[in-house]
Amino acid sequence: MTGDPLTRIRLVQGDLTGITADAIVNAANSALAGGGGVDGAIHRIGGPGIMEDLRRRYGPHRSCPTGSAVVSAPGLLEARWVIHAVGPVWWGGTAGEAARVASAYLTSLRLADDLGARHVAFPSISTGAYGYPVAQAAPVALDAVARGLRDAARVQRVTFVLYSDDVLEAFETALATLAAAAG
Ligand code: APR
Repeated sequence: MTGDPLTRIRLVQGDLTGITADAIVNAANSALAGGGGVDGAIHRIGGPGIMEDLRRRYGPHRSCPTGSAVVSAPGLLEARWVIHAVGPVWWGGTAGEAARVASAYLTSLRLADDLGARHVAFPSISTGAYGYPVAQAAPVALDAVARGLRDAARVQRVTFVLYSDDVLEAFETALATLAAAAG
């Protein structure tokens, strides 16, 4: 795909469950057990069909390693797939958190590309319950997604749906910095 991948990244403020995209990425846990935050919203608004599909595809004792992602049906969400990505818990930044959260974004993007998605919507993975400081997570997330877009065959654009002002601002600052560095 030609063109600067950063121009194919959009930041919006809102609720991830309210967006229409081919693939909506969930901030899940490694047990794929549901939870609060994004995970809670996706299962609440998406309905029980998402968890039923996870159980059908991956069994009752399913798991997904940190930094990886799996796909499920979208339930009632305006999407063709939900991709359940597992980000790292923040342990202070010296336990490989940056590489793991980058991997969660990249793996999700590659999975979406393999599925044939053209528009992918992400939350800010790991910056809620998992405690990853968003000022540090945002540049890692944007750089990973830009690299993934550069290599993607079918994904054309990514939307980050950011719930709170502080997270939106952190991503806006990081995107401006990356764009300036790209020249
Ligand atoms: N839409 C978009 N963003 C949201 C929404 C929503 N509906 N709800 C929360 N967020 C934001 C949070 O403000 C935070 O910036 O998503 C970011 C990620 O927060 P979490 O959902 O807490 O995800 P994470 O930090 O990755 O922790 C994952 O929390 O919910 C559990 O089961 C989940 O164990 C897993 C852990």
